[in-house]
Amino acid sequence: MTLRNFLKLLRSRWITVCVTTVATVLLAVIVTLLTTPLYQASTRLFVSTPAGDTLTEIYEGTLTSQQRVASYTQLLMGESLAQRTINKLGLDMSAKDLQKEVTASAKPDTILIDVAVRDESPVRARDIANTLSDEFVTMVRELETPSDGSKASARIVVEQRASVPDSPVVPEPARNIGIGLALGLVLGISLALLRDLLDNTVKDRSTLEEITGVGVVGTIPLDKERRKDPAISFDDDNSEIAEAFRKLRTNLQFLGVDNPPRLIVVASATPSEGKSTTAINIALALAEAEHNVVLIDGDMRRPMLDTYLNVVGSAGFSTVLSGAAPLADVLQETRFKGLTVLTSGAIPPNPSELLGSLAAKKILSELRAQFDYVIVDSSPLLAVTDAAILAANSDGVLLIARYGQAKREQISHAITNLENVGASLLGAVFTITPTRGVGPYSYGYGYGYGYGHKTDDKDKARQPSSPNAPTPEPAHPGSDRPDE
Ligand SMILES: Nc1ncnc2c1ncn2[C@@H]1O[C@H](COP(=O)(O)OP(=O)(O)OP(=O)(O)O)[C@@H](O)[C@H]1O
Ligand SMILES: [Mg+2]
Repeated sequence: MTLRNFLKLLRSRWITVCVTTVATVLLAVIVTLLTTPLYQASTRLFVSTPAGDTLTEIYEGTLTSQQRVASYTQLLMGESLAQRTINKLGLDMSAKDLQKEVTASAKPDTILIDVAVRDESPVRARDIANTLSDEFVTMVRELETPSDGSKASARIVVEQRASVPDSPVVPEPARNIGIGLALGLVLGISLALLRDLLDNTVKDRSTLEEITGVGVVGTIPLDKERRKDPAISFDDDNSEIAEAFRKLRTNLQFLGVDNPPRLIVVASATPSEGKSTTAINIALALAEAEHNVVLIDGDMRRPMLDTYLNVVGSAGFSTVLSGAAPLADVLQETRFKGLTVLTSGAIPPNPSELLGSLAAKKILSELRAQFDYVIVDSSPLLAVTDAAILAANSDGVLLIARYGQAKREQISHAITNLENVGASLLGAVFTITPTRGVGPYSYGYGYGYGYGHKTDDKDKARQPSSPNAPTPEPAHPGSDRPDE
């Protein structure tokens, strides 16, 4: 993995990294708050042996002291000294508990011993440290004095006495939070890497082309505005998404050179991949180029076009199929020039049956004859057969794949469903692709203002006057990939 890929991954999985880091820092804060504060009081002991007269004796004396230091540190942390201290101070604790509070350490090649006592009370910590040291002085005197009463071979001096500590040594908030932060980052990045490794969703154009076996004819970026109003008002709109739909419109001209598709089904493997939003805007982009377009809501289970376009939803496709109204009566003009809508109508109990009926086929061919383009929104291919049925009666399918949503095998399965009914796949459209960052679909360079309409004019100039007229530029998504 290159640094660039790694940064890209971090950018796309920043939520995982942030949530993990915040969680571990919070944990560190909780641990810090729950930890009982401990105060540390320290003394320093000096080990000496009787001074000799000669240099050799002095040297040997120092050596003896150094050898004793190691044993003394053990004694300082031992049970009997702890018990003596408890007795002296009248403490209500066991020798074992006190032993746990005491640490004695000696620096190599010195005759100094540092004694540290940690206790919940700062005063008690000081008292224990001082009493323990004093008791040790007595203990060493007893141990080192020969039974014949001659001079003790070593003695201890409390060189530095303990004072009451001001602040606790445990917990250490800065250290704990630092560890939490570092752990969180490591854990977060590891999780992000793991998630990426296990992520089987399609995120790049070449993978989508490889699975579908057709070219990617459109890449529709994420545009938050579309959540409020799915329809782009193409007039003077040079936004990234408007330009993406204009490019998709241009690319549609290159498909099926001999028999340009005019009845197009917009389908996807799974729900919420952006079918309805994309279908509306493909229709609007075609209408902008002065084509006469009808948009059909072929999703009879979760119809959305009426809501998205703010038109009447109660009468539509199902109404005509049930014979309750003639087609002409339920076709609705929209606020957009050149765009007519046939909503789904009342939700029927048997959508697949209705969509597969001869009547449905007849309506579709009637509309195909009446309009330059018929764009059909549909339901998810893997959920129900409706979209495949519509696809079988169409000129071809545009397969919508939402960036990072549909899994490889789901798309393959959807393609198989289309192949099984003999539907032709025109191309794939990547939707809701990230617009920022370093992803392959970022549009960092943007589109200049005023450029959109010029492109559009160019498009129009290149477009056939009628959809049936031959396409001027020979192109096929498989061989000569359309400009994205
Ligand atoms: N280009 C886009 N940028 C941002 N949001 C989008 C875009 N396209 C679609 N969305 C949002 O994604 C969600 C799903 O979109 P849409 O309803 O078009 O998908 P769908 O495939 O038709 O769903 P369903 O399978 O339920 O019919 C909606 O909230 C919509 O606003
Ligand atoms: Mg939909």
